Amino acid sequence: MTASPYAALLRQQAYIDGRWLDGAETFTVTNPATGACIAQVPDLGAADTQAAIAAAEAALPAWRALPAKQRSAVLRRWYDLILANADGLAALMTAEQGKPLAEAKGEVAYGASFVEWFAEEAKRVYGDTIPAPSGDKRLLTIKQPIGVVAAITPWNFPVAMITRKVAPALAAGCTVVLKPSDETPLCALALTALAEQAGLPAGVLNVITSRQAAAVGQVLTDSPVVRKLTFTGSTGVGKRLMAQCAGTVKKLSLELGGNAPFIVFDDADLDLAIQGILLAKFRNAGQTCICANRLLVQEGILPEFARRLADAMAAFNVADGASGNSQIGPLINAAAVSKVQSLVDDALAAGAQCQFRHPQLPEAGHFSAPTLLTGVTPQMRIAKEEIFGPVASILAFKDEAEAIALANDTQSGLAAYLYTRDLGRLFRVAEALEYGMVGINDSAISNEVGPFGGVKESGLGREGSKYGIDEFLEVKYLCLGGL
Ligand code: SIN
Repeated sequence: MTASPYAALLRQQAYIDGRWLDGAETFTVTNPATGACIAQVPDLGAADTQAAIAAAEAALPAWRALPAKQRSAVLRRWYDLILANADGLAALMTAEQGKPLAEAKGEVAYGASFVEWFAEEAKRVYGDTIPAPSGDKRLLTIKQPIGVVAAITPWNFPVAMITRKVAPALAAGCTVVLKPSDETPLCALALTALAEQAGLPAGVLNVITSRQAAAVGQVLTDSPVVRKLTFTGSTGVGKRLMAQCAGTVKKLSLELGGNAPFIVFDDADLDLAIQGILLAKFRNAGQTCICANRLLVQEGILPEFARRLADAMAAFNVADGASGNSQIGPLINAAAVSKVQSLVDDALAAGAQCQFRHPQLPEAGHFSAPTLLTGVTPQMRIAKEEIFGPVASILAFKDEAEAIALANDTQSGLAAYLYTRDLGRLFRVAEALEYGMVGINDSAISNEVGPFGGVKESGLGREGSKYGIDEFLEVKYLCLGGL
């Protein structure tokens, strides 16, 4: 029997204060493409979460006192180890999350890029000197780590959403309690094993595997020791966590749901727009917060655009992500498949037309058919809710003003996309869109150097980029008098 490609990275214990530990209870991690059981991990609760917070608190003084160059060196070694183990991590990700292996490899590289970036940024935490209001004073600012950080991460990017939060926190000199999604704890544990190998001291990063999200979240948010919560997930849960953090006035970074418009004007390069929508809609089988949720297409080009998109979708290989040539993997679980189907059914009942539905789905696993709907209206649920599945829904618009109004008609404001060759329109529309990120003739907007984050109910703060580390730092103002 051949060993699994991720055997060396598989950990089935949680990690607190530098120790791998079992739990009295466990839960099963399954492969969404096959239903097979991959692992059993501890189902930790409130007491273990308190222990993890205490470990992070105890480790804080030494970690924040370390010169930035030394913290940077640990992060750099972690980065090297992630890349050295990229194939194993990708295979593990495909097994627990379902995304095609090629995409999983891409995510490992994407995730590692945050570790490299923040290893560099650790050394550039500069303060200011400020012109003083009188001659006998000198004013300056320093930036200091905020303290113990709680990070709650989602299942759709089991590596990158961890590194995008944990790497800047560690770079800044904070210590971390991480609660990964119960759907995908294995990548979190594998990353942690690599961080340990890189020389991260005990207590600096602690991982609580748990299915008791509410109980763990309550302890993390109630704790006065935890000074910052960083969360990626649904808007509903984000709002609850935000309310829970009020009691201790914690700093918050929230990366919540989106309802991205993908606007195609009649002067757009249609080849480019089709290429863009294939990525923006179908990456990770449509399960990203920045996936195009509403395709707004100008009336005159709509039939041609829909025909070309349906042709491209017909060529998809919908299969187990581990099969090598899969382009669309399964959704994360059965509930996700039902939710997507209910949005499609609702739209069809309200008058939308099905232009294409992929005919070949694997028999087992949580697969959802890539589907193209036209005739969608803003009142339909599918235009208001995050689809999180491989369903493209097209709404028609007449002119620029209507496109902007439709695009902004949502409480979400994460990513938007815009395709046009008119330079004036490009700036007018990009500036009018109420979103944190706008892809213009390009939908590959995610990387470590650009600031990722939303406005309105899509969240608070920015991840990655030169701004990302500030989310884990406090500015302290020093006023020197009597000089
Ligand atoms: C997300 O879906 O939350 C993250 C997507 C990305 O980083 O591109």
